[in-house]
Amino acid sequence: MDDAIDEFQRSGVQLRFQSLLVVALLALPLILAGSSIGQESGESTKKMSLKDAAGDRFKMGVGVSEQVLADPQCAELIENQFQILTPENCMKPQGIHPAEETWNFEAPDRFVAFAKDHGLEVVGHCLVWAKDDRTDDWMMQLDNGQAVSRDVLLRRIENHVATVVSRYQESATMWDVVNEALADGEEGYLRDSVYTRTTGIDFIETAFRTARKHDPDALLIYNDYNCHFPDKRKKLIRLLSELKDRGVPVDAYGMQGHFELGDDSLTQLVETFQALRDLGIKVVVSELDIDVVKRGRWWADDGKYRDELKTYDPYKDGLPDEIRQQQIKQYEALFRLFDEYQDTIARVSFWNLHDGQSWLNYFPWNRTNYPLLFDRQFQPKPAYDAVINVLRETETDHASSGE
Ligand code: XIL
Repeated sequence: MDDAIDEFQRSGVQLRFQSLLVVALLALPLILAGSSIGQESGESTKKMSLKDAAGDRFKMGVGVSEQVLADPQCAELIENQFQILTPENCMKPQGIHPAEETWNFEAPDRFVAFAKDHGLEVVGHCLVWAKDDRTDDWMMQLDNGQAVSRDVLLRRIENHVATVVSRYQESATMWDVVNEALADGEEGYLRDSVYTRTTGIDFIETAFRTARKHDPDALLIYNDYNCHFPDKRKKLIRLLSELKDRGVPVDAYGMQGHFELGDDSLTQLVETFQALRDLGIKVVVSELDIDVVKRGRWWADDGKYRDELKTYDPYKDGLPDEIRQQQIKQYEALFRLFDEYQDTIARVSFWNLHDGQSWLNYFPWNRTNYPLLFDRQFQPKPAYDAVINVLRETETDHASSGE
């Protein structure tokens, strides 16, 4: 009897030991994943994605080419990290509408179907790109080659916007209605283009009103670059004020956010966000990246450095740690600021998914660039961990201050 009890107890102990072992083995991956929190390696993606870290402060998005979506590794990364997608090129006027009667819907249809299948929203980009070199001849000329009249141009814009918006309004929750209409730096007000020469700001009004008519609920955005610098900011505020005075339905400024390393414009960004807040205009960070092979000299002194720059590729064999750290600090500062202005900022989107896919590897000249949070092997970089940490810390700040 004693032996039997003993045997029973022993097998009980054995059973408990075996169960513990099974539980421990099952829990091992969780324990390992947990222990990687805060490590520099990027393992923390397993714990938290960009969209989860941002929470309900702002949506996290990315702009990618339609081809990228066919790659399963890219698709998985996009789905895990982001909520909202911008088509990099296929929905632009020259992509989707190359002649008055010709529409290329295949690529944007595939793009929007991908978003739908993966539960993602879409930013329609862009309905009018207000630059002559981004506009096809059919839009700016009559059949006989003469310059288009005001009425014809406005009718063409209306037709273009109505067709694109009504086709994709179900998936698009935001539209970049007009892109880059303001002149740079101290120059004039509006950029010289067929649109402004022919209609002043009326083409902007037509584009926004038409977009609103066909998508009453979407966030309608005026998108541009460098408008946080004081000269161009004045023009932005003037444009948005004029549009508002006319009752034009413009909801947000799309701050492209193509920064360069060391371009420390935090004060100007704060002033811009505040001015927009006063005007009742939201902000979206629409195309974020930080160029480490700075491109500013390309346009300096009438382009006289271009020949020299064409072969300038300093980081083709890798990025020095010093540069990497500088970029991390810059991303941290930006995300702290975005957190502070979360009441104004509706979305933060990166421009391209990983370093190898960035447009800054070929614009404005070919070079090896490292502007994003994922590396060429799709792995999160230390800058990714830094951004996640800023988002986590600031979340805790708000929780503890009762915000
Ligand atoms: C860029 C794309 O990334 C490139 O592939 C293309 O060759 C040119 O356009 N501002 C915008 C984006 O609004 O549409 C631009 O995208 C980058 C600058």
